[in-house]
Amino acid sequence: MKRSEFIRSLGLGSGALMAIYCMGALSSCAKEDTPLPATNTNPPIINPNSGKVDFTLDLTQATNKVLTTEGGYLYNDTILIARTKLGNFVALSKFCTHEGTTVVYQKDSDDVYCPNHGSTYALTGKVIKSPAPAPLKQYQTEYNSTSLKLRVFES
Ligand code: FES
Repeated sequence: MKRSEFIRSLGLGSGALMAIYCMGALSSCAKEDTPLPATNTNPPIINPNSGKVDFTLDLTQATNKVLTTEGGYLYNDTILIARTKLGNFVALSKFCTHEGTTVVYQKDSDDVYCPNHGSTYALTGKVIKSPAPAPLKQYQTEYNSTSLKLRVFES
């Protein structure tokens, strides 16, 4: 019996077959792998006086220059910082709340995506698409367009 005849004999439609295939090989259904930006670990992200996240990035430095372009993003230690396609800044925990995979900013859809199981988050950190069980932690941003310095902090 040919493969196609066997599949037909099971009485499965193409949608059911695709679902079965995806369950067996999740990575085949994920979006294409794209390299993650480098993680910048300097400067330290915790203010020693407050014990809270509070640091400033100088966007004139080569390591931060990606943030001068709409859609650019980077990781500073545990935080994803993106310049959205509208030119605003967002800062969120980079760890998916499902299983901790590093999330990515998607310029086209202007959201944050987990390449592991497909969770999607709004730029506020809110879950748009599960399986993520909780939002990403959001940090405040303050941008000085004269000095090109971006402060990321917890209030
Ligand atoms: S680890 Fe992100 S969706 Fe599963």
